[in-house]
Amino acid sequence: MQKSIQDPALWNEWHPVALSEEIGEKPKGVSVLGEKLVLYRSSKGVAAMRDLCIHRGVPLSLGRVQGDRIVCAYHGWEYDESGACVCIPAMPKGQAIPTKAKTPTFSCCESLGFVWVCLGEPRRPIPLYEEFVDPELIALRMGPYPVQASGPRVVENFLDVSHLMFVHDGLLGDREFPEINDYSMVEENGVFRSTEIEVYQPDPDGRGHGVISRYTYEIFTPLGVRLIKTADGSDELFHLFLFVLPESETTCTAFMLQLRNYGKDIPDHVFVDFQNTLLVQDKLIVENQKPELLPLDLQAELHLKCDRVAIAYRRRLKELGVTFGTD
Ligand code: FES
Ligand code: CO
Repeated sequence: MQKSIQDPALWNEWHPVALSEEIGEKPKGVSVLGEKLVLYRSSKGVAAMRDLCIHRGVPLSLGRVQGDRIVCAYHGWEYDESGACVCIPAMPKGQAIPTKAKTPTFSCCESLGFVWVCLGEPRRPIPLYEEFVDPELIALRMGPYPVQASGPRVVENFLDVSHLMFVHDGLLGDREFPEINDYSMVEENGVFRSTEIEVYQPDPDGRGHGVISRYTYEIFTPLGVRLIKTADGSDELFHLFLFVLPESETTCTAFMLQLRNYGKDIPDHVFVDFQNTLLVQDKLIVENQKPELLPLDLQAELHLKCDRVAIAYRRRLKELGVTFGTD
């Protein structure tokens, strides 16, 4: 917790904590930057508070939701969405509830079908991404995907074009065609974007059609990035956002938002199953990388021209002063 407070870049950022549809009748416990939180849905929206009953330190996520309140599993203390304890069943009627009976709450909002939490002072009222999402496209949300690796390592893997031919050989790339064309990174209003990178893909999205794809990578926030793909000789457009929740320095949970202008009739599971396959392949790599924390000193590892997106990412994290999950 100490370290995350010293990391305003992440402390004041919105983090994805759940799919909106996950927060229903049951409270859900999550970790954000080492803090344990409980989420529950009240009539006023999703509330996020410290996952600890002030009475005897039991996680509120073991309790239940009753109306707009969350009820502790141990002695039934009831908290409202402001974190105030509003009912202590064992207390004789007429006695005032101690004002100290409160648990801290955190900023919480819903956007794009995800629940987001900010532990500090949010930089903006809602996460940045809505303005970048084309509402005409078909949206598919994926996750939560727990990964035993630091958030920045997972994001960098997503931004890495030259792994496609090896880790995802036969799907997103072909090891017979590993060369990466020259490209550059440009910045516009704080968003870092690559120019187009051409990749031959035997099966880019699980439908089994080989194409030459053109990739553009974008870096929005320390743990929020996107790739945009178009295919040669086709009008098909594919966007994939990756939003990563930093739980501890070496564990995180990934969420994805896929947007596409094709395949209205293809069942969601085709895309989800495909993404799951890719994730298993990537996890084997990122969960074994050393050092576990992403090195921000550019002298620490070797870089090629084709690693420009990753270099821009590391530079950006350094500029923003991200220390959680980095070295
Ligand atoms: Fe929660 Fe006692 S520990 S009510
Ligand atoms: Co990959």
